[in-house]
Amino acid sequence: MHRHLAVYPGSFDPITCGHLDIARRAANIFEHLIVAVAEHSGKNMLFSTDERAELVRASVADLPNVEIRTFSGLLTDFVRQTGARVIIRGLRAVSDFEYEFSMSLMNSHLAPEIETMFLPTSEGYSFISSSMIKEVYRLGGDVGDTIPPCVLQALAGKYHS
Ligand code: PNS
Repeated sequence: MHRHLAVYPGSFDPITCGHLDIARRAANIFEHLIVAVAEHSGKNMLFSTDERAELVRASVADLPNVEIRTFSGLLTDFVRQTGARVIIRGLRAVSDFEYEFSMSLMNSHLAPEIETMFLPTSEGYSFISSSMIKEVYRLGGDVGDTIPPCVLQALAGKYHS
């Protein structure tokens, strides 16, 4: 069991400045942070698991205590394998709460020893979501200040190549 370790899971399709803010702040609290990219084999993703993990890796390159892993199956199984006892999730608005709350209850039902810790989004990031960024980008809107530069480049590769 590692008290100094936390797991920050997500789809990260793609990673946004909002995710990055949560990862940075969690990495300031814990000695080691694993950003866990969910494979979601059945879900409709724009980026492949490897692409999503690579974009996360490039975006957190300046954070030496952050590691990027991919996982499939149950999050609680993955977290148990790492030895971590904490799952980090960001909360943007009250509308996130219902889903996040029930997910944390299910996860603690499956693994009572693992706690979910919520970090509130920083001011200025509460409106950002991966799905909205993809839609706005696809329709020609400017999303440059809501995503890391490598993600902007990757979106251009998906939609303009
Ligand atoms: O970024 P997202 O899409 O909000 O992340 C959701 C994620 C990946 C954390 C969640 O879907 C998940 O944990 N998936 C793994 C499968 C699992 O454990 N499901 C039960 C959660 S209650």
